[in-house]
Amino acid sequence: RSMKHIRNFSIIAHIDHGKSTLADRIIHLCGGLSDREMESQVLDSMDLERERGITIKAQTAALEYKARDGQVYQLNLIDTPGHVDFTYEVSRSLAACEGALLVVDASQGVEAQTVANCYTAIEQGVEVVAVLNKIDLPSAEPERVIAEIEDIIGIDAQDAVRASAKSGLGVEDILDAVISRIPPPKGNIDAPLKALIIDSWFDNYVGVVMLVRVVDGVLKPKDKILLMASQTTHLCEQVGVFTPKTKARAQLSAGDVGFIIAGIKELNSAKVGDTVTLANNPAAEPLPGFKEIQPQVFAGLYPVESHDYDALRDALEKLKLNDASLQYEPETSQALGFGFRCGFLGLLHLDIVQERLEREYDMDLITTAPTVIYQILMKDGEVIEIENPSRLPDLSKIEEIREPIINATILVPQDYVGAVITLCTEKRGMQRNMQYMGRQVMLSYEMPMNEVVMDFFDKLKSVSRGYASLDYEFKEFRASDLVKLDILVNSEKVDALSLIVHRNTSQRRGRELAAKMRELIPRQMYDVAVQAAIGANILARENVKALRKNVLAKCYGGDISRKRKLLEKQKAGKKRMKQVGNVEIPQEAFLAILKID
Ligand code: GTP
Repeated sequence: RSMKHIRNFSIIAHIDHGKSTLADRIIHLCGGLSDREMESQVLDSMDLERERGITIKAQTAALEYKARDGQVYQLNLIDTPGHVDFTYEVSRSLAACEGALLVVDASQGVEAQTVANCYTAIEQGVEVVAVLNKIDLPSAEPERVIAEIEDIIGIDAQDAVRASAKSGLGVEDILDAVISRIPPPKGNIDAPLKALIIDSWFDNYVGVVMLVRVVDGVLKPKDKILLMASQTTHLCEQVGVFTPKTKARAQLSAGDVGFIIAGIKELNSAKVGDTVTLANNPAAEPLPGFKEIQPQVFAGLYPVESHDYDALRDALEKLKLNDASLQYEPETSQALGFGFRCGFLGLLHLDIVQERLEREYDMDLITTAPTVIYQILMKDGEVIEIENPSRLPDLSKIEEIREPIINATILVPQDYVGAVITLCTEKRGMQRNMQYMGRQVMLSYEMPMNEVVMDFFDKLKSVSRGYASLDYEFKEFRASDLVKLDILVNSEKVDALSLIVHRNTSQRRGRELAAKMRELIPRQMYDVAVQAAIGANILARENVKALRKNVLAKCYGGDISRKRKLLEKQKAGKKRMKQVGNVEIPQEAFLAILKID
């Protein structure tokens, strides 16, 4: 089939606006799957994803569609991840497309994440076709949402397709718009091979599978391929497409989207954004836009029972097979023993990994508060990076501490602008821009990333009743007046609880943290003192009073169900406690910093 009959497109949508439902509909309409196979949402394959309702790994479907003009088209739908942590993967998926469907919930409107992804699409010259979804809802306001799309994103939305992914209404109109409004791929089938890796994952049977968009040239099994960024060569074993089921093909050529299997054992050699070419006839230059992705957020993961350390290492190793962005290295904490310092793309990524370790690998973990990377300029001129606050060198040797700054874009309805500005100011944000767009306001802030990884997102949602949305990108490291806040339990510094905070907020944070810890640490057989300190300077002290014997006696003396409840509670509580010195500290206490204002 000629390139004229190919359309490569993805779907841009804010979480819950209906991307997966629409993708399912499209696949169904094109006969990619039978009714039975459609039962579950096919594009969200992992259970965890289904429960969270978030698409994590990009997947794709090559579909055949007979258009109203009677001609058969090859529609390559490229799924994109929908969360702020995965912006690089989104940009690579969009780079593989000529067009994108911008799906907006007609009862909600445009949100920050969609705006950011749309701008990425427009920057790359991708044709954006607006789709108003959930038109079946009585609360749908298509006219208002069209105006909003035009105001905020700046594209013409008068001919936006009105659809209901749920009922199927308008889905054919969407596909006709894909054919008439999105251009076919341009590429040179006779030029040396250039294929963009959109996604890659590890399969137990065949090794690494690469999802690619062929830009120029042709690839066949038995060709020797060269991955241009990682500079490794491999023998191409199989090529094919997903329908979304796997289908082998004799070749992939310019314009196609499909998979390559080449006996690659390590995900690290098949990086998203890399260019595949032929070893014997290589392209002169790789495709633009390749980036090594770096973790942004770090946390310590420790087994509750120290003998589970090996099991935790094995579990991390297995997860890493399929998640190139997960990093981990062994770490020892005086308080928590042997564990791992892990690097993540963002907080959501951390959550997902933690949950998978607990559910799929049955691990009981203590997780320390998330932190960012700090750059330290030493007095001797050396610059080091630390990703664990307890590793901060002696202050007398430090010239300055630099923290990562992000550019944050927040989209919020006018009613909540005041509250959001107050929150951003509290979080040391500096306003860069404020723009009224229809009923919404777009705020741009420079903010310290460590304030954002803490609990900013939850707070933003709560001050805006869930209406504000956030997108951010790393900007630079910037010097700031930062100090290390230590927590002492019975006069012993607990390294896993150390934090780096701004000096101006350190007093308040220290007091609040000590108070919160007092609430979270259960009463023990003796008094427990909790202190917050900067160096030798004690900022706050709280006491967890010892249990009085008669309290216990009363409980045990009473009726049997109460006793059982207490025992069960103890058992459940035990799972997530860590003995630090002679004090039992529960998991919540390690995350106390996330729970204070
Ligand atoms: P993520 O995968 O989390 O990014 O979400 P998504 O954008 O894929 O949303 P999804 O398709 O999971 O839909 C979110 C919710 O909206 C689900 O409960 C759907 O059933 C519902 N939904 C999707 N399309 C429609 C529609 O056209 N009308 C109505 N009424 N509900 C819809």
